[in-house]
Amino acid sequence: MRLVVLVSGSGTNLQAILDACEDPSFGCEVVAVGADRPAIAGLDRAERRGVPTFVVAVADHPDRASWDAALADAIGAHDPDLVVSAGFMKILGPAVLERFGGRVINTHPALLPSFPGAHGVRDAMAHGVKVTGCTCHYVDAGVDTGPIIAQRAVAVEDDDTEGSLHERIKVVEREMLVCVLRELGERHRSA
Ligand code: GRF
Repeated sequence: MRLVVLVSGSGTNLQAILDACEDPSFGCEVVAVGADRPAIAGLDRAERRGVPTFVVAVADHPDRASWDAALADAIGAHDPDLVVSAGFMKILGPAVLERFGGRVINTHPALLPSFPGAHGVRDAMAHGVKVTGCTCHYVDAGVDTGPIIAQRAVAVEDDDTEGSLHERIKVVEREMLVCVLRELGERHRSA
């Protein structure tokens, strides 16, 4: 299964996918990594593995619609079976979703449908939850609203900061994402 992975930052989820792909039985290949900004660790991780990269920045386009169209073209150039938004901090637009509809997944650091949006960890803590976690879901036109594929729970400790909690969530998030991709890869091969 050909994957295009989209990142915006440190790319530890991407790294977990790249590591899993080292095993041929995993059944997935990262054919490209895309970002909405240059000079991020996620792009370095791809380049170290010799995986092609592309950057499509909002600031380089006159409006959001042309950014969305350019992103769809950049992804499409690599002919993916699945697009993985793994810490990509932009809402994907209609051009991307029309072209890859039903074939785009996202990982989110909270138990959806609670705490969608860019600050899932902070919002869960502010609410005082005792258990939070992460969710892998298909992407639809809403913000973190698409059908849920998998979730993992993480307990909130009394002395947690947003950073410490997010780091613990990311440990299980990476495992969840690799597990989801293994399953989707198996389904793709037998389809
Ligand atoms: C993940 O927790 C993801 O869900 C959130 O940002 C984090 C990205 O981490 N949107 P990384 O870039 O994969 O290390």
